Amino acid sequence: MMVSKHFFSLLVTVLALGVQCSSPVQPNTKWKNIPFPEDNPLTEAKIAFGKELFFDKRLSAGNQISCASCHQPEKAFTDGLTKSRGVDGRMAMRNAPSIFNSAYFKSYMYDGEVKTLEEQVLVPLQDHREMAGSMKEIIRKLAGDKTYQKQAHIIFNRDLDAYVITRAISSYERSLVSRNSRFDQYQSGKKDVLKANELAGWKLFSEKLYCVKCHSGIDFTNYSVVSNGLYTSYGSDQGRYRINGLEQERGTFKVPGLRNVSLTAPYMHDGSIQTLREVILHYASGGKNFPNKSTVIKPFLLTESEISQLESFFKSLTDTSSYQAD
Ligand code: HEC
Ligand code: HEC
Repeated sequence: MMVSKHFFSLLVTVLALGVQCSSPVQPNTKWKNIPFPEDNPLTEAKIAFGKELFFDKRLSAGNQISCASCHQPEKAFTDGLTKSRGVDGRMAMRNAPSIFNSAYFKSYMYDGEVKTLEEQVLVPLQDHREMAGSMKEIIRKLAGDKTYQKQAHIIFNRDLDAYVITRAISSYERSLVSRNSRFDQYQSGKKDVLKANELAGWKLFSEKLYCVKCHSGIDFTNYSVVSNGLYTSYGSDQGRYRINGLEQERGTFKVPGLRNVSLTAPYMHDGSIQTLREVILHYASGGKNFPNKSTVIKPFLLTESEISQLESFFKSLTDTSSYQAD
């Protein structure tokens, strides 16, 4: 049912564009300001196709899970678990981050090493702790799906393959934009949208405390890969150290964005902090002693009402309206 509905809208789009399948025409839609790579222009048809793939369990070994099993729309595309669960209940390495606004991210994953969304798609598909598949096997399974093949031909002018799968799914991810929270409305001039305690929380976050030294910019991250002093010793996950084996990168992780953060508990790369209040207390304590801990992280004192002002500010960052259920 879902397939045929999407396919219908796909046909409409193609007709509207005059069947220009191979030329990168950007339809005049609400998606028009979203950035995309030159070789993967964003179209309504691609987004719809990518959405079907994102929710399709056949992309995993034994058809057990889809991308959406760990990136659930109602939790701002996270899963509420400390660490995600892959096929056969295997424990994933980390806590699942939200993918809202991933179109705008400068790097992906906690190591900050993956540079494009297209490239990122391949990681969970093949990670044995996550979807545990192989591209060859996935394509074999999906090859007989006539609606998928039709969409691959119309949109990409080729058979369903890794090129099609990575480009369609990343297009769907790009459509998940969170830019209309009450905080955004406030920033764009509607000054009465934020309540006094939310505004006070924003002032604490951005002026009194040091949070914006790392959680800066429109998505509240500067993409630096640092240690915020979570541990004195990082145990099995040493963060970016695993990429280059550099001592100064031990225990460092990409600064996560904070959009929709009140929907994405638990927190940190390993889901070890359950609530935003405890996150605030972590920073207030100055973090643990760790050689690579950023020198920005220092202890501070907050009153109970200041803690709740910060929590209220975080709640004002919620906007999941670009996700549309069928
Ligand atoms: C088993 C659970 C699981 C599945 C299934 C899964 N993911 Fe993830 N996803 C994660 C975890 C955990 C991370 C963090 C990994 C890391 O940082 O090393 C992540 C990270 C990401 C990121 C990076 C976000 C950021 O802030 O850097 C994107 C994008 C993403 N996943 C998209 C997908 C797509 C697309 C699929 C399907 C092809 C998928 N995921 C399937 C658990 C999952
Ligand atoms: C030196 C850079 C830096 C500063 C300053 C900083 N953070 Fe962070 N923040 C990080 C990093 C890195 C992580 C992820 C650490 C990890 O996963 O182990 C993080 C994680 C978080 C998270 C969890 C997000 C998630 O989705 O898991 C929240 C919330 C947060 N910080 C809030 C704050 C607040 C509030 C302040 C100010 C008091 C602050 N941060 C200051 C670097 C910083």
